Amino acid sequence: TAARDIRLAVVAGDGIGTEVVEQGLLALDTALHGGAVTVSTTDFDLGARRWHATGETLTDTDLEAIRAHDAILLGAIGDPSVPSGVLERGLLLKLRFALDHYVNLRPSRLYPGVASPLGNPGEIDFVVVREGTEGPYVGNGGAIRVGTPHEVANEVSVNTAFGVERVVRDAFARAAARPRKKLTLVHKHNVLVHAGHLWRRTVEAVNAEFPDVTVDYLHVDAATIFLVTNPARFDVIVTDNLFGDILTDLAAAITGGIGLAASANINPDRTAPSMFEPVHGSAPDIAGQGKADPTATVLSVALLLEHLGLPEAAARVEKAVADDIVERGQVERVRSTAEVGKDLAARIAG
Ligand code: NAI
Ligand code: MG
Repeated sequence: TAARDIRLAVVAGDGIGTEVVEQGLLALDTALHGGAVTVSTTDFDLGARRWHATGETLTDTDLEAIRAHDAILLGAIGDPSVPSGVLERGLLLKLRFALDHYVNLRPSRLYPGVASPLGNPGEIDFVVVREGTEGPYVGNGGAIRVGTPHEVANEVSVNTAFGVERVVRDAFARAAARPRKKLTLVHKHNVLVHAGHLWRRTVEAVNAEFPDVTVDYLHVDAATIFLVTNPARFDVIVTDNLFGDILTDLAAAITGGIGLAASANINPDRTAPSMFEPVHGSAPDIAGQGKADPTATVLSVALLLEHLGLPEAAARVEKAVADDIVERGQVERVRSTAEVGKDLAARIAG
């Protein structure tokens, strides 16, 4: 195959972001070592440090520079010293909306050897396809008479036929490619009747294109019950931005925690770079101490490789993690961030 260079934008960010991204990049380099594919990285100084220094979150210049890349690897953004919402809206959500990351993909797998807080978890292996560009997170709202007894505060959930259909089609395609071929729509269409029925009708319509896929439906509150009592029933879940945000944290918790949960913000049409990041944040409580688990970032690198059409390298990274996790259960020793990264790289190298 012809030589290919992947242009990777790196946003290490704040707190443990820089620590885990370093190990993610090591895994990426190791997985591609000796092959025809190389990686060129560009570091972007974004996050709390930049905001304190300049007052900027994400400028148009930053955005255009990021756009010129094939993918983005992000560590974590955020610090208690920055008012809540500034970096979430001004940087993270802005990136997702501007780059049209309409599929927020969060796989949940209970790896052998990982302790789940569930007594009898069964086999957990599902993926949540969370809509990423609509719902209540678009910033369609406002407030008046703030701070008075007459305050009005609105956040309007935006659901378009176009936006729902494209994410539902992506979820069907993912379900069709998996052995169980099962898709669960999660919403609340008994109460949120306008958006809920748009989602329901869209799933019914797109199902005609994917007759092999079995479809079922759960209200979001019932979904939280089944995620705890019978998570093995799930294969692919498709849901809106808010429900997906909440369900994926629960999914991370039942599969061994935030140190393992990976995610991808995907632009399936490839009109802009997709972004790969651990689900966790900047963990200021352990930042700078070498205590952060880089595994979620390394698994995000596997998603990145998969998205870039390098499934063999992706599989090697994922197997390295699975094998390492099996041994974690048996070895008592606590490893540093760098030690875990080094051990994973050694396994990836084979
Ligand atoms: P967090 O995920 O940073 O931390 C929650 C708890 O999990 C902490 O006790 C932390 O030490 C632990 N933890 C997280 N990642 C870990 C890892 N890799 N290894 C071991 N332990 C880990 O969430 P929190 O505390 O709510 O938020 C901290 C900051 O991160 C905030 O500023 C928040 O806005 C931001 N944040 C950023 C995200 C992003 O960049 N996508 C996502 C979530 C939060
Ligand atoms: Mg969340």
